[in-house]
Amino acid sequence: MNYIILTVIVFLLQEILADCYKCTIFGSEFILNKDFNLYCLPNSICSEACSGVIIPSTEACPRSDSICSTYFHSESSGSISILGISPLNICYWFLDLRKRTKSSTIFDAETTGHMYFKINSYEDENSPRIVHEYDITKESKSEFNITGKYFEILVFSMAISGDIKVKVLWNQKSSGSYEESKNIIIISASGAAFLIFLMCIIACLIMTIRKKRESSRVSQQIYEFVPDDCSFISHMDTNMPSKLFCNKTLIDPCCICFEKFYLGCFVRELPCNHLFHTHCIDEWIYMKKNYSSCPLCMKNIFDFTSQLDNSINNERALD
Ligand SMILES: *[C@@H]1O[C@H](CO)[C@@H](O)[C@H](O)[C@H]1NC(C)=O
Ligand SMILES: [Zn+2]
Ligand SMILES: [Zn+2]
Repeated sequence: MNYIILTVIVFLLQEILADCYKCTIFGSEFILNKDFNLYCLPNSICSEACSGVIIPSTEACPRSDSICSTYFHSESSGSISILGISPLNICYWFLDLRKRTKSSTIFDAETTGHMYFKINSYEDENSPRIVHEYDITKESKSEFNITGKYFEILVFSMAISGDIKVKVLWNQKSSGSYEESKNIIIISASGAAFLIFLMCIIACLIMTIRKKRESSRVSQQIYEFVPDDCSFISHMDTNMPSKLFCNKTLIDPCCICFEKFYLGCFVRELPCNHLFHTHCIDEWIYMKKNYSSCPLCMKNIFDFTSQLDNSINNERALD
């Protein structure tokens, strides 16, 4: 009895204080409080004083921000999800599922808060709307089996505070709760981070390999062959050291590779006074170890040097 009196007093106060509009969204009547910019369910007692005063108006409804995601959907299966519906707000969508051959559609609704779901279904424009209403409380999942070709989905956030997450799927398996999807996001984020890390490592590896190749290419410019016995090189280095080519008048090319001697390239002058690129003659000698002769005059380099040594020794002996 006291409650009824209190309700009436509140009702009258609201009527005096609030400036409310009656809205019709998909055939459902809602009250729009222009002062607070809030919708309230009909017959609900709203903390922000919206129930009771009804000023018929159509231009105020529906609010453009009530469309919380793409308004029109025609895929035979899909989902709508909103990460946050402000308290006491309305979202609505329209589904055109004529393409779907099955007569019934399975809806899955998930919410993190208290939601009021209203789904109007109908077969064609002129057929009557069949109204389905669901009151879904916190952290729950619900499945609805509804027949029809067209669906008007209306979600009304009943929460006074906090943003509510809502997901509505049609003809799809429920994708798990928001906690799970949060985990999936975390997993995929860490996966992406790991992938980036992996790609960095691979890039680094490729770069080092490239650098190594480049540096080996540089060394190959000097030695295209890899000698397993370097004793002959050390022998040649002592007897006919590699020098930087600095003779501007010489135009004869190296007769091993037939390339010109460029200023600053490394050359060896054999005891027979014939000039070759260091890497060319080294390779030549290396290949013909048993018969190490000058490619031009065919004089044996080692014999020649030993002869030279001998002649020097002889000269010394003569002295
Ligand atoms: C949905 O309802 C229709 C009939 O209304 C029925 O034939 C169909 O099997 C139902 N589907 C599920 C998954 O319950
Ligand atoms: Zn050469
Ligand atoms: Zn020679």
